[in-house]
Amino acid sequence: MKIRAVVRGVGHYLPERVVENTEFEATLETTDEWIRARTGIERRHFAAQGETTSQLAIKAAEAALRDAGLEAGQIDAIVVATSTPDFTFPSVATMVQAGLGSTRGFAYDVQAVCAGFIYALANTNGLIVSGQAERVLVIGAETFSRIMDWTDRGTCVLFGDGAGALVLEAANGAGSNADRGVLATDLHSDGRYRELLYVDGGVSTNGQAGHLRMQGNAVFKHAVQKLAETAHTALHKLGMTGEDVDWIVPHQANLRIISATAERMQVPMERVVVTVQDHGNTSAASIPLALSVGRDRGQIKTGDLIVTEAIGGGLAWGAVVLRW
Ligand code: UT7
Repeated sequence: MKIRAVVRGVGHYLPERVVENTEFEATLETTDEWIRARTGIERRHFAAQGETTSQLAIKAAEAALRDAGLEAGQIDAIVVATSTPDFTFPSVATMVQAGLGSTRGFAYDVQAVCAGFIYALANTNGLIVSGQAERVLVIGAETFSRIMDWTDRGTCVLFGDGAGALVLEAANGAGSNADRGVLATDLHSDGRYRELLYVDGGVSTNGQAGHLRMQGNAVFKHAVQKLAETAHTALHKLGMTGEDVDWIVPHQANLRIISATAERMQVPMERVVVTVQDHGNTSAASIPLALSVGRDRGQIKTGDLIVTEAIGGGLAWGAVVLRW
């Protein structure tokens, strides 16, 4: 017997405003064709003025709770992955807790940029397996539109806003690969690559929120190599390979990275959940958004073996293998 962190519910929320690629053509030296061809992105959602990360997170959490058939008061812990919090503090997670009307348990944020949801999921698994919590809401929520430099065509066309949430619950498993729940995790970071992807502002530097800066091409090369590697490592811990995988649910940054990673894992694109065309890169929100949309589309079903992987600023990257 082994305690497993099993998915009980999933949900997401996207802000109302949809921005098509063509909107950028008016203000930037760019085209819809370039953005589609180089990234696979066709549109993204942007939060309305005054709409904050915690508000997106609360709506995604409510959807996941509804899906799980649970009330907020039955949740022991709330973990939010975000790099775009409403405030320097308190955490978005405590704002979600209050927004859901709960005073039970504890809540905190995890910050690993685009790898944030992978880190949060691994962390949540630890809470459940170690007996610190039985039911955890784990959320990825971002408003990257707030940290864009709208004159930088190399970054501002890539990102979007949104939130996705899972409810994970402790359940007894047999201790085999057939168990539902999180089966393996693999996390990495290498702070030497800070300059490749960072925000040029912060509390203890210039007191500004700052703007995202990225050397896209260098990040691209790291992504293609490191994502397949970490996914392989996580599967290897279970004696599994790409052949055992029903769905890759990748971080949605660039369709070319997604397909190159799938190819390296020898998984055909028919078994990859792709949402980047509609959401752009929503950083820590992209994986829970893709899990929720993939479930709603009828792609992801109970019992499916899923590998999810992401890389982002830090650099920080990792993978989680779970059975839905
Ligand atoms: O989620 C966190 C992790 N982040 C990522 O995974 C992002 C990884 N990187 C990427 O997705 C890609 O590198 C980008 C989409 C950012 C860029 O694609 P690329 O194929 O690597 O292009 P590049 O940066 O090498 O630029 C090629 C050309 C450049 O022009 P020159 O120097 O060849 O004249 C750019 O200035 O494309 C130009 N370019 C654009 N042209 C039209 C860059 N952005 C644009 C644009 N529209 N929006």
